[in-house]
Amino acid sequence: MKHLLGVSALIAAITLAAWAWLGTGFDKLLPIRASEESFYVDRLLGMQFYVIAFLFALIIGFMLYSFIVFRRRPGDDGDGDHFHGNTTLEVVWTVVPLGVVLYFAVLGTGYLSDITSPETDELVVEVTGSQWNWRFDYPEYGISSAELFLPVNRQTVLELTSIDVIHSFWVPEFRVKQDAVPGMVHPLRITPTETGAYVVRCAEICGLDHSYMLADVSVMETADFDAWLQSQMAPPTGGLAEVGAELAQVNGCLGCHSIDGSENTGPTWLGIYGEEVYLADGSEIIIDDAYLRASIIDPGSQIVAGFENVSMPANFGAVLSDADLDALVAYIASLGKDKE
Ligand code: CUA
Repeated sequence: MKHLLGVSALIAAITLAAWAWLGTGFDKLLPIRASEESFYVDRLLGMQFYVIAFLFALIIGFMLYSFIVFRRRPGDDGDGDHFHGNTTLEVVWTVVPLGVVLYFAVLGTGYLSDITSPETDELVVEVTGSQWNWRFDYPEYGISSAELFLPVNRQTVLELTSIDVIHSFWVPEFRVKQDAVPGMVHPLRITPTETGAYVVRCAEICGLDHSYMLADVSVMETADFDAWLQSQMAPPTGGLAEVGAELAQVNGCLGCHSIDGSENTGPTWLGIYGEEVYLADGSEIIIDDAYLRASIIDPGSQIVAGFENVSMPANFGAVLSDADLDALVAYIASLGKDKE
């Protein structure tokens, strides 16, 4: 009984010390909470840390107490006492953790249901991941963007998909995370609560430039967001090449193809239009509209010597319309010979 009181006091002391430490610093380790969902996630995580602190004290407390109180004294060569089970103790250490786990399961299920349930006035944004780009489409407005713009305090459903491998959409300040899987659409619901600038990361290893698969996120006041929508819905004022430049940005082409002549995963676009080049199979062609269209739709078909078809998505034919292809080709042509 004396030992039980002693070790209990030690465990209580370590637990209280750990809780006091958690109370001072835990929040500072995390990025700010910028969505409604983040409050649920942090509440659950925080509660688990408090339970874990007690479990830590339970193990360390027994260990420290035994080291000191039951250490071997000089001249003590005897065996320890022999015990044969303790039913009460076994029932306690089975039932109590079971209760704790069930409590968290019920709480977690409730939170999950809260943060994933649809609302009537949701903003829909289609998010397409590709190696290594994020593309955001606003189907209700016919807008595509390379940056994610969201109105504050309105629930948005991101419909996530991918055109090549599995990616994962993650903005740490929003806490929630969801995979973007080719051939499937996964919803992710976010209600931003803080205006400001954030960054989407890809949280699934997806190839060479996985760690650079970033996109800007801007959470705006409703009026500013509406103004942005209006500016995007206005018909393009520039020519076809200008539309193509926008498409190259949105679809992530410029991640692999430079427009200033510098080396990259794919051939630069500067000065290639009208050039004669050798293909990997030794034949010679002239880069014209037909070649560019074919290379966008079926990137593996005619590869320029010295390059490999490492990562260009094979289904731009399905993603881009005929008009999109015309605009992209016009843009590449505008970077042609005389621009060298
Ligand atoms: Cu996409 Cu990692």
